Amino acid sequence: MVPLHVVILAAGEGTRMRSDTPKVLHPLLGRPMVGHVIAAAGELGAETIVLVVSPNADPLRAAFARSRVVFAVQDPPRGTGDAAACGLAAIDAAGPAEGLVLIINGDCPCIQAATLRRMIDSHADADGTFLSVVPKDPTGAGRFIRDTDGNLSRIVEEADASGEDKALGEVNAGVYLFNLSSLRQALSSLRPDNLQGEIYLTDTLEVIQRQGGGVRIYQHDDPDELQGVNTRVELARTEELLRRRKLEELMLAGVTVRDPGSTFVDVGVSVGNDTVLYSGVTLEAGTTIGSRCTLYPNVRIARTRVDDEVTVLDGTVVEDSVIERGARLGPYARLRPGAHICEGAAVGNFVEVKATRLGKGSKAGHLSYLGNADIGAGVNIGAGTITCNYDGVDKHTTVIADGAFIGSNTALVAPVRIGAGAYVGAGSTITKDVPDRALGVARGRQVVKEGWAEQHATAARKRRR
Ligand code: UD1
Ligand code: CA
Repeated sequence: MVPLHVVILAAGEGTRMRSDTPKVLHPLLGRPMVGHVIAAAGELGAETIVLVVSPNADPLRAAFARSRVVFAVQDPPRGTGDAAACGLAAIDAAGPAEGLVLIINGDCPCIQAATLRRMIDSHADADGTFLSVVPKDPTGAGRFIRDTDGNLSRIVEEADASGEDKALGEVNAGVYLFNLSSLRQALSSLRPDNLQGEIYLTDTLEVIQRQGGGVRIYQHDDPDELQGVNTRVELARTEELLRRRKLEELMLAGVTVRDPGSTFVDVGVSVGNDTVLYSGVTLEAGTTIGSRCTLYPNVRIARTRVDDEVTVLDGTVVEDSVIERGARLGPYARLRPGAHICEGAAVGNFVEVKATRLGKGSKAGHLSYLGNADIGAGVNIGAGTITCNYDGVDKHTTVIADGAFIGSNTALVAPVRIGAGAYVGAGSTITKDVPDRALGVARGRQVVKEGWAEQHATAARKRRR
C-alpha cells in the first residue's frame, strides 16, 4: 500500500468567529472542531498526521497533547498554500517521505473517513485530486471552473471572483490529495498574487497543470458533510448535522429517541439498546449509558457511568458519577462529582449528593444533602437529612453503616458514625457516634400542657379589660 500522510490546516486566524478562542477549538458535540477532523483522519491508517497551528496555539497543543498528532507551526499565517508547506516540512523532518498526502481544512468537522477513503481510491495515477461539492449556497467558497471537456481548469476564490464566476455552483471543499513529490514541487512555486495577498493552496492546480501533471475532481454528493465553519452561524449548522448523525447511529443500534429535535448526545457517548431517551435529554462527553434505561425529560448527564436498567426521572443533573444497575434518580436530583449510587439504590426528589457512596438498595427519597458520606447497604435516609460536612475550613466524613435508619429532618454533624442497624430519631442534631443497633436522639423533649389554650385565652381577655 502507498504510504499516506495527512496535513490538517488549523493556523488561520478565524476572525469571522469574533472569538478569543481559536476557531478550530470551538466545541461541537463535546469535541473541539478540529478533533472531528483528526478523528476522521485517524481512521485512514495514515503514517503521519500533522496539525498546522499558529504560534499562540497552546490550548490546541494541550487539547491534543495525548493524541498521535504532530504539530507544525505556521508563523505568520500567509494562506493555505503556505500552511500546507509548513505541514510538508514537518513530514519531511521525520525522515525521507514518499507516497500520498491528504490535506484537509481544519474547519470542516463533518467530514467522514468513508468519503476520504473513496477519494483516495479515485486518485489512481493523478498528481492531485480536489474534492468538490455543489452546495445550496456557494457564497464564500472557491468556485471550480471546468473546461469544455469537464476537466478542472481554474479555482477562483470568492474575493477574486467576477460576477460570472460567482454564479457557478461547484465549489472547492477544502480537501486535497497529492502525490508527495508533485505537491513539493508545486508549493515551491506558489506566489501571493491575488487580492487578499495570500498564498493559496488552490493555486497548486495551475502549477501542476503547467508542469504537465494531471489533476482530478472527486465530486461528493453530500454538501452538508463538507460544510466549512467560518462563522457561529455555520458552527450551529454543523453541530446540528453532527447531532442528527449521532442520534441516527444510536437509533439504528436500538435506542429510542422520543424527540430527536431536542436530544443532545455528544460524540463518543455510548447508549445501550432498549434505552429510552425522552425530550431534552443531554448526554455529555465521557458518559456511558447501559441498556434498558429510561431517561425522562430534561435530564443532563456528564462524564458518568450509568449501568443497565437505571431510571432517571425528570430534571435530574448528574456529573462525574457512577450509577449502578437498577438505581433510580430524581425527579430533580443533583448528583455532583464523586457520587456513587450502588445497585438498586434510590436518590429522590430534590436530593443533592456529592462525593458519597450510597450502598446497595439504600434510599434517600426526599430533600436531603449527602456530602462526603459513606453509606452502607439497606440504609433509609429520612426526608430532610443533612450531612453537615463542612466546618468552614475542612470537609469531614459521615459514615452510616448497613441497615441504619435515619429519621427525618436530621442533621449529622461530621465527623460522625451511625452504626449498623442503628436508629436516629427524627429531628435530631447528631454530634456523637451512634453505636451499632442503638438509638440516637438529640432534640428538645416535648412538653405538653393540658388545657393551655383555654388559660391562654382567659389571660388575654383579662389584659384587654
Ligand atoms: C478555503 C479555500 C476555498 C474553499 C474553502 C472551503 C483557499 C485559498 N481557499 O477558503 O477555495 O472553498 O476553504 O471551506 O484555500 N489556514 C491556515 N493558515 C493560513 C490560512 C488558513 O492554517 O494561513 C487554515 C484555517 O485555519 C482553516 C483552513 O486553513 O482551517 C481554511 O482557511 P480559511 O481561511 O477558512 O479558508 P476559506 O476562505 O474558507
Ligand atoms: Ca473556511
